[in-house]
Amino acid sequence: MTDEFTNQIDAEALTRVMDARFSDESTQNFQVIASKELAPLSTQFLEIQKQPDVSWQVTYRLIRKIGSGGQGVVYLADRVGAHDVSFRLALKIFSPDPYESRELYDLEMARLARVGMKLARIQQDHLLDIHNVMMFDGIEMLMMEWVEGFDLCHLMKPKLFDRLKGVVPAKTWEYVNDVVATPEGNGIRFKPGVAISILRDCLSGVAALHEQGIVHADLKPSNIMVKLTGDSKIIDFGSAFALDDLPNRPTWTPRYAAPELLLGSPHSISSDLASLGYILLEMLTGVIPFHEVKSMKELVQAKLDLPDRLEEHLPVDLKNNDSLIKLIRGLIDADPASRFSSATAADLEEIGAAGFHRHLVKADLSSEYEHDLKTWLSALRALDV
Ligand SMILES: Nc1ncnc2c1ncn2[C@@H]1O[C@H](COP(=O)(O)OP(=O)(O)OP(=O)(O)O)[C@@H](O)[C@H]1O
Ligand SMILES: [Mg+2]
Repeated sequence: MTDEFTNQIDAEALTRVMDARFSDESTQNFQVIASKELAPLSTQFLEIQKQPDVSWQVTYRLIRKIGSGGQGVVYLADRVGAHDVSFRLALKIFSPDPYESRELYDLEMARLARVGMKLARIQQDHLLDIHNVMMFDGIEMLMMEWVEGFDLCHLMKPKLFDRLKGVVPAKTWEYVNDVVATPEGNGIRFKPGVAISILRDCLSGVAALHEQGIVHADLKPSNIMVKLTGDSKIIDFGSAFALDDLPNRPTWTPRYAAPELLLGSPHSISSDLASLGYILLEMLTGVIPFHEVKSMKELVQAKLDLPDRLEEHLPVDLKNNDSLIKLIRGLIDADPASRFSSATAADLEEIGAAGFHRHLVKADLSSEYEHDLKTWLSALRALDV
């Protein structure tokens, strides 16, 4: 290539760059340096924008495992960027082991990718952000927001709670026990205001899902993250599906599933609400629901009976709390048609979660829940657990 020819291209490219720049009022202040050295880069800058796609290789650095379950493994990861910078995220690697054939794995992974991308378009503070779905050597991976905090299942473990005692100042320990949570039997019991605050976050996340025709289908404590800020987020959309794109083989966790699912009915908006009701009861009592049952038949019966026997399960100070009992019944009624009509209704109706909050305020039992949770979580984080 001659100098003349190169110079001609450079001049053309620079003119185009300058035209482009001067057509935009906001960028008129820059200083044009007609450098021969920069010209190829300027050309490249324009060429890139003419491509229908831009693509490059990406590296994800696996930092450490942060969880695992029935569907695979979740890693804290860094997506390596230019100039040695990296973007922190969570990466879920889906295991093929639960599937009978490669075909079934591929089919389910394709469906999960579709639902994942529907989810990615929902912008809601209480739903985990999904970034992308990728296949690597036949294995599906989901790139998602990393939530710095604790999943609710982990948070309700007394061992974790006990570690705070004697480590944090006595005043913090008393404060946490008074207003946030306290050990109870084999679990942790949340104060009603804190439990309702977590429930309300979940209801608003689930409402956004339902509005897009998606059911979560596996709401349980380990699928709810409480962030260090005190906000909660729904995670794990591995069982979620769009009501117009059904899974080959629906999955759920029996203990937290609505009774009609165990009897063969499909997932629905009200089955998600029932799961939130069982989670609420667990937060209020510190007891894992239905831990005593020994068979699926007993489990179904216990779920059908529960709404009428709530008083037996609630702690003494909540047994006679009418508005709380109505709220829980509205979530877990044995008949799905008698539950709240939607997650928004469960929050905002007179007997809903917001109404119960108002009762707490009137009784002067309200507190700054997010701040209180933050106090607890910061103390736990300081222990590096
Ligand atoms: N985005 C995230 N940020 C932080 N922690 C996460 C994230 N995703 C998952 N985890 C942690 O990893 C655990 C397992 O993840 P996940 O629930 O997605 O896996 P799973 O295989 O579907 O589990 P299961 O089948 O038991 O529901 C979660 O309970 C949580 O503790
Ligand atoms: Mg999970």
